[in-house]
Amino acid sequence: MTKDRLPVHVAIIMDGNGRWAKARGMGRTQGHLEGVKRVEEIIKAARNAGIKFLTIYAFSTENWTRPHEEVSMIMRTFIQVLGQKARDLCKNGVAIRFIGRRQGVPSEVLEAMDKAAALVPDPHLMTLNVAFNYGARGEIVDAAKNLAVQAADGRVKPEDIDEKAFSACLYTKGQPDPDLLIRTSGEERISNFLLWQLSYAELYLTEKCWPEFTEEEFLKALSVYAQRERRWGGVKIN
Ligand code: IPE
Ligand code: IPE
Ligand code: MG
Repeated sequence: MTKDRLPVHVAIIMDGNGRWAKARGMGRTQGHLEGVKRVEEIIKAARNAGIKFLTIYAFSTENWTRPHEEVSMIMRTFIQVLGQKARDLCKNGVAIRFIGRRQGVPSEVLEAMDKAAALVPDPHLMTLNVAFNYGARGEIVDAAKNLAVQAADGRVKPEDIDEKAFSACLYTKGQPDPDLLIRTSGEERISNFLLWQLSYAELYLTEKCWPEFTEEEFLKALSVYAQRERRWGGVKIN
């Protein structure tokens, strides 16, 4: 694949853990545990492919409405995985960032997140954004509030607020927008993910559930992306 056909930023809605497990007569927990293996596999695959930014949807602001046992299992697993894998990722050139609201996240989870985010890889090959307690509408509201406070303080003039200034107030500030959005499990919706940033992303929807989304499937998504013609609202120039 030629470099210019490779997406700089890939975003993934990792969906279908529960259905994958159910179809095999297992509990949802098993689905999440198998899903964690794919997370590791895909992070490595992305890094090896030369992807510069990978954003994964791990837990949404709406996911708190799930049964208590499932939510606490996810929290425990998240703490464990960060503790076991963050250092290894850092050694492999991956910087970890978290996007989402801190408010409402248990303190033990925040602690694990802060430790992981403090690691500095050298060289820095890829940024991994983990969307946790993330909701895109909440993110946009936070950005609007931030700008409103700056305007009230006289640090920004309302007439100077443009798309660039707004983007700079999002959790993903300073990063390019995703080029490719992958969603697994056959669902065809955005589920409150990166509403602003996905404006011109190419969509890749697959029937595979997340625990089945192997490196091979990821490379397939990259090669489909490489065939896409992006137009940005313009016309094709040969
Ligand atoms: C994705 O799988 C993982 C999270 C949202 C945490 P699901 O748990 O949503 O699995 P399904 O969609 O119920 O199959
Ligand atoms: C989206 O999946 C959130 C994550 C992958 C973390 P959901 O399973 O929560 O989305 P819906 O409910 O099917 O829209
Ligand atoms: Mg789901």
